[in-house]
Amino acid sequence: MAVNSWQLTKTIKKTDFLVIGSGIAGLYYALKAADFGKVTILTKASLLENTTRYAQGGIAAVVRSPDSVEKHVEDTILCGKGLCDEKIVRMVISEGPKRINDLINIGTRFDKSPSGDYDLGREGGHSENRVLHYKDSTGQEIIRALVQAVKDHPEIEIFEKQFVVEIITQHHLGKKVKKNTTGIECYGAYVLDPGSGQINTFLSRVTLMATGGIGVAYQTTTNPDIVTGDGIAMVYRAKGVVENMEFVQFHPTSLYDPLETPSFLITEALRGFGGVLRNSKEQEFMKKYDDRGSLAPRDVVARAIDNEMKLSGEDYVYLDCRHIDKAALKRNFPNIYRKCRSAGIDITKEMIPVVPAAHYICGGIKTDEHGRSTINRLYAAGECASTGMHGANRMASNSLLEAAVFANRAAQHSAKTFQNYKHCLEVPPWDTEGTVLNEEMVLITQSLKEVQGIMSNYVGIVRSNLRLERALKRLNLLYQETEELYIKSILTPKLCELRNVINVAYLIIKMAINRKESRGLHYSLDYSEGSF
Ligand code: FAD
Ligand code: SIN
Repeated sequence: MAVNSWQLTKTIKKTDFLVIGSGIAGLYYALKAADFGKVTILTKASLLENTTRYAQGGIAAVVRSPDSVEKHVEDTILCGKGLCDEKIVRMVISEGPKRINDLINIGTRFDKSPSGDYDLGREGGHSENRVLHYKDSTGQEIIRALVQAVKDHPEIEIFEKQFVVEIITQHHLGKKVKKNTTGIECYGAYVLDPGSGQINTFLSRVTLMATGGIGVAYQTTTNPDIVTGDGIAMVYRAKGVVENMEFVQFHPTSLYDPLETPSFLITEALRGFGGVLRNSKEQEFMKKYDDRGSLAPRDVVARAIDNEMKLSGEDYVYLDCRHIDKAALKRNFPNIYRKCRSAGIDITKEMIPVVPAAHYICGGIKTDEHGRSTINRLYAAGECASTGMHGANRMASNSLLEAAVFANRAAQHSAKTFQNYKHCLEVPPWDTEGTVLNEEMVLITQSLKEVQGIMSNYVGIVRSNLRLERALKRLNLLYQETEELYIKSILTPKLCELRNVINVAYLIIKMAINRKESRGLHYSLDYSEGSF
């Protein structure tokens, strides 16, 4: 079905499966659910804009020996530092090859070697080559194929540039529900159409939250500017369980350019291809920190880089690829080659200045093995979900895999249950609109910058109790100011995003304060014996 342009009147729409988000999780779920009923996809940007399309390294899966499910499970659990749910990890990894086949069947291309076998890359924490990729633009290729497939499907309706403000629960019917109870139900979503300013009602039998991560909460991030934690914040406000938010993953190597947002990623696959990290004295430093050197898991590499930068006083370290075969480098990493070239760096001859950047949230909306959240009729998949797969540190290229497996599981499960649920016709129209036209965009942009400063300065790679308490105090003021603005203002996506970023920042800080240890991505000076 064609992509709709939305109209001006306040409307109620009904669908079987409401999908919020059009990254890999949302689109994959939509395709699978559309075999069973009517699907409606809502996305706040264009269909093609999401984090998924920026994915470079690829998607991890056990494709052939000498790799095995057991080895992939073991690597994942080792990276997760004791907090992975082994049952979930084994399930995701075992189902991975079927989901890869689905992606291939809808037209996704993955690179092959001259022998005709899939060319498998290696990234941090993996003990085998197991990362399927399409050059260094894997996400773009996956999204291309998925978008084509959903556009061609007659049962899928797509609404672009529609901002989901809240999920609808009993709260909106004036009924009280207690926090973390099992009785909360999701009836759909209130959706702001920025074109008309209307907030429309979408009623569903079941809903999937697939809104991605939280990168914009930090000053420097590899995530595009739409990644503002909306789904996680909405579920938290609706009293669903959110967990493990302290585990924010910083990618060790983004291209150093303080003026560029988002920060351009230099894929870990480049280190898997032989790239080596060096400090300002050109010394290879990673072996000092971990026997696995430049291919140690991300938490270790990001902390080591952070430490080297503190020791040297420099703003970056280097990734050295000068020793790698030039033709192979250009052939396998054309996107990175082009990008660095445009920044004046020839990666075949010069080292690449790199710096860690906020990249991925391991926690989020708690789900079970079917992708069910703690709110009835609400599923979650992709980066906004906390499934038990990643524990305290996600292994590279495991997130596209997890998103595909859980999108499919959630679709299969919701297909079995959706007919048990009726559209809730008691849902009232959105009635809490403010009246003040908020022309002072500067207040919103300035507050966002302040949140980002707080998070980067006090809740980054290395934390302490003092820094976290300081962050909480400062955030509290921004929270109060923003809530006041929210109540009186006519809503805009930017104001809602600011509110959501503050919500997820609060969750990260609170959960970091509550974790009285250093573990994986949460590293606190108060609970560590090491020097960095
Ligand atoms: P997204 O792809 O982020 O999609 C979220 C969707 O939700 C978007 O369509 C957005 O518009 C929509 N949305 C959000 N809020 C709202 C709202 N309020 N209303 C309506 N719509 C909304 N992982 C790997 O496994 N391998 C890799 O190689 C890899 N490389 C990466 C490279 C980069 C630069 C980055 C940033 C991440 C990378 N990751 C990689 C992580 C991975 O890409 C993401 O975790 C994954 O793509 C998330 O998919 P998703 O479907 O959950 O969310
Ligand atoms: C990368 O290509 O380095 C990113 C991979 C990931 O985040 O999983």
